Amino acid sequence: MPAISFQSVSKQYSTSRGVLQALDGVSFDIAQGEFFGLLGPNGAGKTTLISILAGLARATQGRVLVDGHDVQTDFAAARRTLGVVPQELVFDPFFNVRETLRIQSGYFGVRNNDAWIDELLEALGLADKAGSGMRQLSGGMKRRVLVAQALVHKPPIIVLDEPTAGVDVELRQTLWQFIARLNREGHTVLLTTHYLEEAEALCSRIAMLKKGRLVALNRTSDLIRMAAGNVLRFKVDGELPPALAAQARITGRIVQLPAPDAVAIEQLLAEVRRAGLTVEDVEVRKADLEDVFLEVMATDLSAAGGHRWQSPV
Ligand SMILES: Nc1ncnc2c1ncn2[C@@H]1O[C@H](COP(=O)(O)OP(=O)(O)OP(=O)(O)O)[C@@H](O)[C@H]1O
Ligand SMILES: [Mg+2]
Repeated sequence: MPAISFQSVSKQYSTSRGVLQALDGVSFDIAQGEFFGLLGPNGAGKTTLISILAGLARATQGRVLVDGHDVQTDFAAARRTLGVVPQELVFDPFFNVRETLRIQSGYFGVRNNDAWIDELLEALGLADKAGSGMRQLSGGMKRRVLVAQALVHKPPIIVLDEPTAGVDVELRQTLWQFIARLNREGHTVLLTTHYLEEAEALCSRIAMLKKGRLVALNRTSDLIRMAAGNVLRFKVDGELPPALAAQARITGRIVQLPAPDAVAIEQLLAEVRRAGLTVEDVEVRKADLEDVFLEVMATDLSAAGGHRWQSPV
């Protein structure tokens, strides 16, 4: 039985400007013990999908099963199985960190949880903040508490919606070590992040959403293998010709272009020079998940190439 099964999930929001299709027939399964990544640009529907999974929003169509429990008709069982770290920071400001975690334990009917709470505080670098009021914590500290809160009942399935947004490098590493340990111990992990390096390093499989539709579903390694191969990176002193700019990833003066082989690299550089530009700091690197992500998002969904990135296993 899959840990999570999304079955033709659609969600429409009625807004003042009409109906917004936030999710459109999303179907995929996450196996027990997987470390799974859910990626997509802002507004793609990631949080909406997680909200439906967590029972915080209702699907307009379709259903979601958690360990075989329907999140709507069998809410309590589904909810107990899940630990969800929400994207938004919401807390009761009147409690301190330890109280917040005790209250959350009580909510799940877990008594005498202090040993595990101490372990969570230690693992998340919060040990010296146990007595601090939630109001006094910095944004990154609050996010650590959100993670701890989601884990108080040792849920077999851990869902993280951008847990590292606004979190410093050191904690990100500590957090990932801890989550990776829980995954090794058998917990299933569903992660949403805009840090594609993190997703590449951690997730064995990845799904990508675009405008509410599933546009990629595959092993991380297979996705990267399917991408351009190499990327040519250089600095340039002016504007690229439009034909090149259209294929390029441009960050200030730095230009990155997909280039499968040496011939392509030479042709691209010749084209840049023909445009009268000076090129500096040339390097070639292997394509990574960010390149794949940009390529998938640029793919026309309606075209035959739309299924290229999807493999059911
Ligand atoms: N309560 C709501 N009412 C109306 N529209 C909503 C609501 N919640 C989300 N949406 C819309 O649904 C779409 C998907 O939003 P969602 O928050 O799921 O995206 P996301 O992939 O999580 O984006 P981000 O990366 O910015 O977190 C967006 O167009 C958003 O504006
Ligand atoms: Mg979101």
